[in-house]
Amino acid sequence: MSHPMLIRLCSTIDVLEGQGLQVTAADLVVAVFRVDDRYYVIDDACTHGPGRLCEGTVEGDIVECNFHNGAFNIRTGEVVSPPCLIPIRTYYAEVRDGQVCIDPERPAEP
Ligand code: FES
Repeated sequence: MSHPMLIRLCSTIDVLEGQGLQVTAADLVVAVFRVDDRYYVIDDACTHGPGRLCEGTVEGDIVECNFHNGAFNIRTGEVVSPPCLIPIRTYYAEVRDGQVCIDPERPAEP
């Protein structure tokens, strides 16, 4: 049974630990991360400015925007370092047939 709202993003093997992958799908531009063999998807556009979080520096479950060095928790979307103030959107993600998929209608599971 497949959930009707699942959107396929990429193959799991395309996502490397410690490095975000930018994916555009269904009008969304997101960044996919692998942390401890789980997959997390957040908005790619930093909430602070023009930074792209797929290009950020990843340490554990934190991504640091390389524009002004603000940082977010990849799992929860919380801001962990200024100058960012607004949390980043996180998406419900699951793996189906080796593909990372999101359901924008469902709450994310940190
Ligand atoms: S644009 Fe990301 S910290 Fe400013």
